[in-house]
Amino acid sequence: MALTFPLHRNPYPATDDAVARVLADPGFGDHFTDHMAVAIWTKDGGWGADEVKPYGPFQMDPASAVLHYAQEVFEGMKAYRHADGSIHLFRPEANAHRFQNSAARLMLPQLPGEDFVRACAELVRADAAWVPDAEGERSLYLRPFMFASEVFLGVRAAQTVTFCVIASPAGPYFTGGVKPVDIWVTDTYARAGVGGTGSAKCGGNYAASLIAQYEGYDHGCSQVLFIEAADKDRVEELGGMNVFLVTADGRLVTPALTGTILEGITRDSILTVAGDLGLVPEERRITPEELFGGIADGTTVEAFSCGTAAVVTPIGAFKSAQGEWRLPENGSPATMAIRNAILDIQYGRAADDHGWMRPIA
Ligand code: PLP
Ligand code: COI
Repeated sequence: MALTFPLHRNPYPATDDAVARVLADPGFGDHFTDHMAVAIWTKDGGWGADEVKPYGPFQMDPASAVLHYAQEVFEGMKAYRHADGSIHLFRPEANAHRFQNSAARLMLPQLPGEDFVRACAELVRADAAWVPDAEGERSLYLRPFMFASEVFLGVRAAQTVTFCVIASPAGPYFTGGVKPVDIWVTDTYARAGVGGTGSAKCGGNYAASLIAQYEGYDHGCSQVLFIEAADKDRVEELGGMNVFLVTADGRLVTPALTGTILEGITRDSILTVAGDLGLVPEERRITPEELFGGIADGTTVEAFSCGTAAVVTPIGAFKSAQGEWRLPENGSPATMAIRNAILDIQYGRAADDHGWMRPIA
């Protein structure tokens, strides 16, 4: 039976002043709304106990399986306010679908797509006052996640699982506005391998990427680019974003999905709108030699990272233990055109020709 997520309203919501203060400068991931959506799955009973309830801590037994074996998956999506005040989700069915794929890989139960979208929509309706207006590219970031909450230390798939959605008003992910970021290409660490969890959005992937990200910080970079683990002959993705190159002859190139990278919804949307912008999308293998050589010989004129949190962010340079490859300072015209095309759809400033927006309030 479909879940309905009935609302049990928070009797002590944040004051209007407190909400206004947060929305004036939300940052990323620092503030949370008045409510959260929750549902519990048990092996015998399936999904139930669904509700939108006051935001607050979980009471967790120290033996909860997720704390030991990291059986957990999550999603990231945003609710956007349009100029007329209405609120919309962007391709939530795509997030629901990826959540199912991630859950399958981690031996977590399947949450029907309609329940996933309903949970997000009901939470946003309850916390509509927390959805910023579109100025300064603000939105309400939604974080659906699911974890093994069974109290049991044996290594097997949990028989009690908690699903939750929390919401956090968000400004730009990278501080300092839309300016090119430098990317560290790590030789030391890998993110994923064939048969591993690279294409699943599970917390463990991010825990494992932190050390590489800090290696990047040590070299003045804000994100890390991973290369395929075994043969080191294929560029994959960043710790929390996909990557694209723009060539001088108008091709928009991104690594093909090989099972080791996350199938980004922003990535897919960019490949879809590329043609409208006169760019030719190409999904294929990019070798490190092509990445560095193309910048050196001028074949590659722009590069950018993309994801829900980061939207589309130009890349200034790739740095590695072997050297530094700086992209031309050309104002990233193709990157900015793509960025604006996606944002214009998300904020309702352009026609939703692909049927991506879901009005929810
Ligand atoms: N790759 C990784 C590892 C990510 O964490 C993300 C962010 O969610 C992406 C790519 C981009 O995915 P999406 O565009 O669906 O946000
Ligand atoms: C997202 O873009 O939604 C992510 O999950 C990436 C994370 C690094 C914030």
